[in-house]
Parts: sequence; C-alpha cells; structure tokens
Amino acid sequence: MRVGNRGKWVNAEGVSAVGSAAELAECLRATGYLAGEGLATVGYLALALHRPLLLEGEPGTGKTSLAGAIAEALDLDLIRLQCYEGIDASQALYDWDFPRQILHLRTVEATSSDAAVEEVEKSLFDERFLLSRPVLRALRESPAVLLVDEIDRADDEFEAFLLEVLSTYEVTIPELGTITAEVPPIVVLTSNRTREVHDALKRRCLYHWIDHPGLAREIEIVRTRLPAVSARLAEQVTRSVQRMRELDLLKPPGVAETLDWARALDALGADVLDVETAAATLGAVLKYREDTDRVRESLDRLLAS
Ligand SMILES: Nc1ncnc2c1ncn2[C@@H]1O[C@H](COP(=O)(O)OP(=O)(O)OP(=O)(O)O)[C@@H](O)[C@H]1O
Ligand SMILES: [Mg+2]
Repeated sequence: MRVGNRGKWVNAEGVSAVGSAAELAECLRATGYLAGEGLATVGYLALALHRPLLLEGEPGTGKTSLAGAIAEALDLDLIRLQCYEGIDASQALYDWDFPRQILHLRTVEATSSDAAVEEVEKSLFDERFLLSRPVLRALRESPAVLLVDEIDRADDEFEAFLLEVLSTYEVTIPELGTITAEVPPIVVLTSNRTREVHDALKRRCLYHWIDHPGLAREIEIVRTRLPAVSARLAEQVTRSVQRMRELDLLKPPGVAETLDWARALDALGADVLDVETAAATLGAVLKYREDTDRVRESLDRLLAS
C-alpha cells in the first residue's frame, strides 16, 4: 500500500474523515461538483459505512463524474472499470502477459537446458508477468476510488463475479495466492438501467437515483463549470433545457447537454439566446431529429423569460 500517498480524508484505518453529508457536499463543491442533499447524504453514508454506492439516473446527470469528484475531494486515485457487453473477470481482474512469458520461456530454454520443468513453470507465473486490471489494482492500491461504470452493460455472470469481490474485497490468483485489500476501496457503480441490476448486488450497495437538478442548482453547475459564460446566458440556456425536459422527448437533455449548449453559444460569441441562435445550435443539445423538430415548433415558448 502506498502509505505516503494516502488521501487526506482517510485515516490510518482507512476510515473516512468526512464528518457529515454537508461536509462531503462542501468537499465535492470545491472540485466543481454540486451534489443535491440526497446524493450528499447517501455518499457520506457510503464512505462512513464502507458500502459500495450504486447510482442510477437519466444520462448526463453526473453519475460517472461523481466518482471522479469523490476521488479528487478525498485526494485518492480514481481507478475506472468501463463495463461492456461480454466483459469477463480477466478483463476486470488480471491477465498473464503471454508474449513476455513466451520470451522468458525461450530465454530459459536457451540458457539452461537442464532446468526442472516445475521451476520453469513457476517462474512463468511470476508477479513480473501479471497484468493488473482495474479491480485488482483497486484492491492492491486501496484506499482508492473504484468506478464500475455502466454495470448494466455487463452480463449476469460478470455481476456475480463483482458481487463476490465486493463482499469480501479479496481475490484469489491460483498461481500467486489470495490478495486482500487492506482497506476496502470506495466503490461507485453506475447504471443507465438498460436492464435491472440484480437484487443481490443491490442489497450489497447503497442506492441513489440521480434526478435532473432543479433550475437554481443547474444554473450554478453551468456557472461553476463554465465561468466564462455570462450569468444571463447561463440562466437562459438552463431554463430552456429544463422546459425541453417537460416535452416528452425521445432523449431529454441532461446536464451534459446544458453544458455543451452553453459552451457552443459561448464559442459563437453569443451572450443572449434568441430564437435564431437557438435554432442554429440545437444540435448541441438534442440528438434526435424528432426531438429537434418538436423543439423548433415551440422555441418561442421555451425561450420566454
Ligand atoms: N451535479 C453536478 N455538478 C457538476 N457537474 C455536473 C453535475 N452533474 C453533471 N455534471 C456535468 O455533466 C457532465 C455529464 O456528467 P456525467 O458524464 O457524470 O453523467 P452520467 O450520468 O455519467 O451520464 P451517462 O449516463 O451518459 O454516462 C459532466 O461534464 C459533469 O461534470
Ligand atoms: Mg456516465
């Protein structure tokens, strides 16, 4: 463990020194992440109780970036595991560096013809040839923040594997033995709910659904993330996006799109959002033709102050 690099908010026992939900919210705010009260509370509990945090919510509502913000706020490394269809334990845990093992084998064969088979075999499964993947790294390098992003893309088998790791915080590598985290990593799992995460994994975690932020907080997010954008533009953009979310669109815009739109308008030098400019830049905020058509029809109303 990298004792010298221990996060400032984690003491020698790996216990979080964040004393309350309000304190966590304050630390996150310092990184530019503005958490609502519910999220700050569940985040604080995840730290205090050493429980994984499962976040679900609409796209672009800040699920992934929360893990980065926690890592930054606590001065810990962020280790990310991006899930995808077909991901298996070896991609999450470890692999052997096959080409280097072969090279090693050739070298041994060339230099000592009488080396015992078991000896050679043993030397092949040495730490030197181990490729640590995110979950193993998180166990070995903890305290760290492990982000398991988009768990809903992985299949049942992978979820079962993850459940086991998150229950024991240890893994066994047959050739090397059992590796246990001295301190459980802080684990954040995210899901876009393309399928339900199993109850067994949910039971292990604390759960929070991240809603779109209210108007005031979203304006504040834009102002925090994009300080160059004027207060007036930030408010107009955010108010319009919030109204779009009420239109039953195929893909309602998330905070990510609000930021993209404000960024796009700023890049065009606009400091006020009128119908013409909005119509020309809708591609920054809507990604379906049906949604764009729908919004164009009601732009006047959406932009009204
Ligand atoms: N509460 C917040 N405070 C500050 N920034 C935020 C907040 N919520 C979202 N953002 C910003 O919005 C953008 C999108 O966030 P993020 O990628 O974390 O969303 P997500 O929920 O993981 O989306 P997806 O489901 O598409 O993966 C990022 O740039 C992030 O910084
Ligand atoms: Mg994400």
